[in-house]
Amino acid sequence: MTHREGAQTPEEYMEALAAEDELLLRIKERIRDSGMPEVSVAAGYGKLLTLLVSLSGARRILEIGALGGYSGVCMARGMGAEGSLTSLELQPEYAELAGRHLEEAGFGGRTRYLVGPALEGLAKLKEEGETFDFFFIDADKGNYLNYLDLSIELAEPGAVIVADNLLLRGRTLNRDKNGPSVLAVREFNRRMAEDERLEGTLLPAYDGLAVAMVKKA
Ligand SMILES: C[S@@+](CC[C@H](N)C(=O)[O-])C[C@H]1O[C@@H](n2cnc3c(N)ncnc32)[C@H](O)[C@@H]1O
Repeated sequence: MTHREGAQTPEEYMEALAAEDELLLRIKERIRDSGMPEVSVAAGYGKLLTLLVSLSGARRILEIGALGGYSGVCMARGMGAEGSLTSLELQPEYAELAGRHLEEAGFGGRTRYLVGPALEGLAKLKEEGETFDFFFIDADKGNYLNYLDLSIELAEPGAVIVADNLLLRGRTLNRDKNGPSVLAVREFNRRMAEDERLEGTLLPAYDGLAVAMVKKA
């Protein structure tokens, strides 16, 4: 869509200026063709993930929720030659497709998928003594607070933590909505603003993206 054709929202306007490349479009197409949920991170935030990884100089990236690898490819594109991506995904077939896409993007040798509940994957990584300097939380919302706490435990000082869907398509702001995911996300957002270990903010475009840095001691 171009400006002349009339973008409806600021997000559409921005996306018309910076179209996704062929690989990213192909990933979305395969997700659609496979009947998987079409819930990859929004294009503008995918681009932001690439930039944040690159700007922060992150080398060890942990993703919670891989789906078809769209965000994985975006983050891998920002990491330097030494970078690696570890991704936690519940569904084996999703992890398999994501892995194929990371390979197609040229990062095959530098990705690791842990299949199963992310809480188990995080416990395993902790047991292994792994640490990370970039986190992307994008899985089941009810566990967002657990993912945040465990990410902080696995974080190197100065690590970046990003999380998606903090507005829950308006439910977060709607006082009549008080299901477990909504309550967990509201608390997550409060922690992003108030947790003394973090310096964080919430970007309100698309479905809301939290960006925080784990403070250096
Ligand atoms: C919103 S999608 C991730 C989208 C992906 N980050 C992207 O932007 O390309 C959420 C993913 O989290 C996975 N998921 C849901 N519950 C999970 C859990 N308990 N442990 C690990 N992964 C989970 C889903 O299977 C799904 O693939």
